[in-house]
Amino acid sequence: MNKIRIGFVGAGWMGSVQLKRLTERNDVEVLALFEVNKERGIEVLKSVGLSPSLLVTDYNDIVNNPAIDAVWLVSPNSFHAPQAIAAMKAGKHVFSEKPAATTFADFCTEIELEKANPKLVTFVDYILYFDSMEQQLRNMVAKGQFGDITQIQINYRHPVNIAGDKVWKLNKAIMGNAIGMGINHAISVMIFSMASQAKPVGIYATSMPAKVRGFEADPIWALTVHFDNGATGFCFGNIDNGNGYDAFHSLYGTEGAFTFDSQQERPNKVRYWSQKATQGKWIFPLNLQQCKSQGLEQCIWPDDTTTPDNGNVVEHQTGSAVGHFIDCVKNKAKSPLSFANSSIIAEIGWAAQMSASLRQPVSLPLDWTKAGKFFENF
Ligand SMILES: NC(=O)c1ccc[n+]([C@@H]2O[C@H](COP(=O)([O-])OP(=O)(O)OC[C@H]3O[C@@H](n4cnc5c(N)ncnc54)[C@H](O)[C@@H]3O)[C@@H](O)[C@H]2O)c1
Repeated sequence: MNKIRIGFVGAGWMGSVQLKRLTERNDVEVLALFEVNKERGIEVLKSVGLSPSLLVTDYNDIVNNPAIDAVWLVSPNSFHAPQAIAAMKAGKHVFSEKPAATTFADFCTEIELEKANPKLVTFVDYILYFDSMEQQLRNMVAKGQFGDITQIQINYRHPVNIAGDKVWKLNKAIMGNAIGMGINHAISVMIFSMASQAKPVGIYATSMPAKVRGFEADPIWALTVHFDNGATGFCFGNIDNGNGYDAFHSLYGTEGAFTFDSQQERPNKVRYWSQKATQGKWIFPLNLQQCKSQGLEQCIWPDDTTTPDNGNVVEHQTGSAVGHFIDCVKNKAKSPLSFANSSIIAEIGWAAQMSASLRQPVSLPLDWTKAGKFFENF
């Protein structure tokens, strides 16, 4: 079997975890690491059992290396798009940490390049897609277990890690807008949960400056998303402060409802009711005793069901995300999270910025010409 040969970029907090996941696979070979902090690069290579000689000091050594099949971008946000665009122009597949771009022009270029080069595999790491609770939720919505969804709320309130080298996250020019820093995880959950029933057609958003830490870009957001079936989505985002990880979910439908409270102890984190699946009773699918006492043992979820309630990247579904991208490359398949296929998630971020600034609703899908003019002067 031919191994997929990787050029890796950015061995920081998230990058070192993903590099480790790659080295655990036998269908992958890491050919080079570009990391501007040489000491850190060498230290991380050694820690994952790779040779320090893989460190390169110029990104072009990755782009111009004909042996490399795919470029893996875990650099700070503002470098993702320039590095992705250069890689795609050189015919390389691209794994990009989120956000895919910090400028609207680069976002458009990435999508145009993907469409012009259909053999290229691209991927944006909206990692909650791989969480098993989120997969359960998507399946239940698609099976109509809650009837028609009329309202959906997904929060992302989590004081993102700015310790040590990660202080670049305070800098607007490097971080971009705060929506791309994690609030887009909540947007991705909302869009994928609703995908079987409705598409977003508009957004109204407000934002606030930092209250606690020194973020240059507004880190506090409230997004109202309108869907084509009349349903409304709501997202509270805050990367400025908090006590733990708030990824609260609340879905309401005509025949059921679903609630996830990341701050609860595991047995009580998830509850739902469904006319079809639980005879209209509220059940806690992670709570064996409760399901038994309701006579609904068939509703228990497997012990290894993951829930999205941790800001620690070591505990994220990195193995699944890495495996998904490698499988897409091996099978020459498009990912649902490719730049183009996931573009509505990024568009909601751009539309939110426009809406908050203009103090008016913005239609989706985004009018690229209007948005381009807006961001030229932003
Ligand atoms: N999906 C998630 O849940 C999640 C979680 C954490 C971080 N991230 C993303 O991962 C990326 C990295 O974040 P982090 O927290 O690991 O930050 P970090 O600062 O720990 O790591 C960034 C690394 O990139 C290196 N670097 C700086 N400039 C570079 C350049 N021009 N090219 C290549 N490397 C460069 C730095 O030296 C550092 O080692 C960010 O885009 C962030 O949004 C995603």
